[in-house]
Amino acid sequence: MLDGKPLQMISGEMHCARVPREYWRDRMKMAKAMGLNTIGTYVFWNAHEPVKGQYDFTGNNDITAFVKTAQEEGLWVVLRPSPYACAEWEFGGYPWWLLKDSTLKVRSTDPKFLAAYTNYINQLAKQLVPLQVTHGGNILMIQIENEYGSYSDDKKYLDINRQVFRKAGFDGVLFTCDGADQMPKGYLPGYLPAVNGLEDPVKVKELINKYHNGKGPYYIAEWYPGWFDNWGKKHAKVPADQVAQTLDKILAAGISINMYMFHGGTTRGFMNGANMNVNDPYSPQVSSYDYDSPLDEAGNATEKFYKFREIIAKHLPTGQKLPDVPAKKPTINIANIKFDASADIFNNLPKPSVSAKPLCFEDLDQAYGFVLYRTQIKSGGTLKLDGLRDYAIVYLNGKQIATLDRRLKQDSVMLNQVLSNTTLDILVENNGRINYGPFLADNRHGLTKSVTLNNTEVLNWKMYRLPFNDLSGFMFKPGLNTVVHPGLYKGIFTLTNVADTYFDMHAFGKGFVFLNGHNLGKYWQIGPQQTLYVPAGWLKKGKNEVVVFDELKTSHQSLSAINHPILDQNTTN
Ligand code: GLA
Repeated sequence: MLDGKPLQMISGEMHCARVPREYWRDRMKMAKAMGLNTIGTYVFWNAHEPVKGQYDFTGNNDITAFVKTAQEEGLWVVLRPSPYACAEWEFGGYPWWLLKDSTLKVRSTDPKFLAAYTNYINQLAKQLVPLQVTHGGNILMIQIENEYGSYSDDKKYLDINRQVFRKAGFDGVLFTCDGADQMPKGYLPGYLPAVNGLEDPVKVKELINKYHNGKGPYYIAEWYPGWFDNWGKKHAKVPADQVAQTLDKILAAGISINMYMFHGGTTRGFMNGANMNVNDPYSPQVSSYDYDSPLDEAGNATEKFYKFREIIAKHLPTGQKLPDVPAKKPTINIANIKFDASADIFNNLPKPSVSAKPLCFEDLDQAYGFVLYRTQIKSGGTLKLDGLRDYAIVYLNGKQIATLDRRLKQDSVMLNQVLSNTTLDILVENNGRINYGPFLADNRHGLTKSVTLNNTEVLNWKMYRLPFNDLSGFMFKPGLNTVVHPGLYKGIFTLTNVADTYFDMHAFGKGFVFLNGHNLGKYWQIGPQQTLYVPAGWLKKGKNEVVVFDELKTSHQSLSAINHPILDQNTTN
């Protein structure tokens, strides 16, 4: 009930960090046109506190502006500031710097964790407490934790979460959400237990009644009209007809719903997470978060969108009409952008850190990206990188010998014909910290245990930090033949007309792309994602600069952009 009148939330999830700020309003207008009255959103702690104690609520991280834009567009908001989010987001939204203290236990009553968490929520409260419905704003409800029952069952920890929010000033309706089987462990007595992933209206009501007061309200906090993708796995597709029928049943039963996702957008930069479970190896997610959701990655209505719109329209009070659906956005092709300068990263190494044993990213004070580990060896044998996280390219005297991939449980390689005074280089990439499952708390990166050669520990390392926050510090040389290792390729191109487009990465190996200073996300030849979405708003009429980093292939001459995404092609490379 809202002000004494029944309200059925027809909500769709989208995340401010996954949508360029210039498009928030556009995507919200699309939500209205589909018939949504509410936006569900996580708030990612690691986006707002990238460095301990330094808060960022500006630009694409301006969560206040995001919520206010929804209000201006006539949308309620369900806020999910957990701060554990899962969401296929690096470390589930936790900041990497929590791992600098190897004894700190996230998602627990560890006082060190709770202190950091409380500081952050107090800052977030300054932004969002005034926007709760209890203060005249549009935030209807606030989620505590996120599917906690899938992780553990400490009701004391759950209650501390509640207190942190209350003390910070969040005085609105608090709720938890869990998968049906995990609800006994994840609900907090007295607070609305929303369910995730359960679709049968009778079962939804029975379950929520069991753990609440028997009077509702009934809320499915995550209902999945699509799904996400992992590198090297098949593209997920969820048929539109099937989910439209389910939506119809849920709405007819008067149940409130949040579709996860309404608009997934893109996980840019190094912000993707990874799955790993006891029987499932480490598996990082792709950059596109298209999610096969009703609104595609570029904000266009899909077949699913129109089907959902029809269903929602059926359930509207008589006389109420939905706004027209805005037209599909135009797209362009950009043929043959010629690279004309390049930089080999081996010729662009910063000052190294030095230590007997290899240090992990966190001990090197590095969040994301790559570290090049270098040492000298005198003989060959089995090289083992114990605790490799997550991907390594091994070089002897600058020549690539092997790649080792945590997804494939690879951590060893035979080094043959090694002479004394051989330089061993290991370029280690953080492919995304685990965001879900029992290994969440075990998430340090780089070379995290030891390096051995024939069971003897290899010592005396130089470590070169390559976080790729931006590309300053790299000296580009004219021409392309300068690169024989992982390298950067720069191209300048001129446009008379800008529109959405997709960089075609088929010819490239593994890396990421910067456009006019924006990191568009990662590509990897194994697929299924083969293109990178380029939002029109980040292109310029006139000169544009693109830089591709490729760690596996060399000799690139050019790059093209096509007018559609390719998200469903796997290769065996
Ligand atoms: C869970 C989580 C979400 C998301 C989905 C899968 O339900 O709560 O954050 O990870 O799975 O997309």
